Amino acid sequence: MTPSRIHRLSLTHFRNYRTATLQVAGDMVVLVGPNGAGKTNCMEAVSFLSPGRGLRRATLEDIADNQGDGSWAVSAEVEGALGLATLGTGIDPPTGDASNSRRCRIDREPVGSATAFGDHLRMVWLTPAMDGLFMGAASERRRFFDRLVLAIDSEHSSRVSALERSLRSRNRLLEVRNYDDHWCGAIERETAELAVAVAASRGQTAAKLAAMLHERGAASAFPSAEIMLDGWMENALLREPATAVEDRYREILRASRPRDAAAGRTLDGPHLTDLQVAYAPKNMPARDASTGEQKALLIGLVLAHATMVAEMTGIVPLLLLDEVVAHLDPNRRKALFDELAKLGAQVWMTGADPAAFVDIGPTGEIFDVESGRATRRG
Ligand SMILES: Nc1ncnc2c1ncn2[C@@H]1O[C@H](COP(=O)(O)OP(=O)(O)OP(=O)(O)O)[C@@H](O)[C@H]1O
Ligand SMILES: [Mg+2]
Repeated sequence: MTPSRIHRLSLTHFRNYRTATLQVAGDMVVLVGPNGAGKTNCMEAVSFLSPGRGLRRATLEDIADNQGDGSWAVSAEVEGALGLATLGTGIDPPTGDASNSRRCRIDREPVGSATAFGDHLRMVWLTPAMDGLFMGAASERRRFFDRLVLAIDSEHSSRVSALERSLRSRNRLLEVRNYDDHWCGAIERETAELAVAVAASRGQTAAKLAAMLHERGAASAFPSAEIMLDGWMENALLREPATAVEDRYREILRASRPRDAAAGRTLDGPHLTDLQVAYAPKNMPARDASTGEQKALLIGLVLAHATMVAEMTGIVPLLLLDEVVAHLDPNRRKALFDELAKLGAQVWMTGADPAAFVDIGPTGEIFDVESGRATRRG
């Protein structure tokens, strides 16, 4: 198994960090410090070493240090699927025209997008923003699940974005009173093709993850989840050939043009898929579980997923656990550290209270974070 590891992380003008470098030797990285110190910012910086918009889904401009020139950079020496590499990403100072896009480099050579980072590292995170995941909107759960898929299939987020663009083109065209039938058909063909690609990746991941959750069952200190995708296309693709599903969706799109035109959006498709989660030990919907139960369920889900990614890709994903540890009782905390050690993943954890990490063991590396500075302890 190849781990996804960071050996050195450097931030430049990244939120409240002017410049900072963290040298990391082991697999348990702990960031402790008061509220507002920059712990989550540091995790967010790490999250930009993967495809997508980072763990806050922030706009790139907002990330730049508000006392800087508008640029920001994250660079890291990593050890991953292709051995040692230097990954770099960030934006240039704004020039006034055109929107600023994220630049990415591998070993100092520019690459087209952060998708290429997936060849080196895989990563998943849990943040306090996900606390309401089971209570909130379907879109949140869909996004959470797409992130899990992305750790297996690095192209997934670009396909999801392409699908969203294609749907927007269709919705815009349907607004025109006498739109061109052929043109609409062409857009719908593209939409259906992308939809099937997105749904297929999701369906496969869901099936494998469900099996992994079942297999782990009582072996984990964290409760098992039963998961199911609530989307006809994902489920149909597990039984039928992709071409048949794609044809059916194209028919649906064609037939529902008037309805969708009236609604101003496309009312059927995998852009509306939800992730259904049940709390397996009590056989109840996750949303009915207690706050602590929901948190433990999410941790169990992420641990099962990390094990699955390792088995499927041979790459153990890096885990970012923002403010996860402090909410666990001491037994669960110990169990989390044990399960993480067994997984062999590099894990970045944060907490405002250093006491939460006393049981981390000798491999733990603690960084004291304060006003945009991170100092290694001991
Ligand atoms: N673009 C920016 N430029 C400068 N500072 C910023 C920028 N964006 C956010 N900050 C500041 O970064 C600080 C640290 O935020 P961060 O979320 O990392 O704190 P934290 O250590 O995780 O705290 P908590 O324990 O409350 O979660 C905040 O005070 C915030 O105002
Ligand atoms: Mg924080």
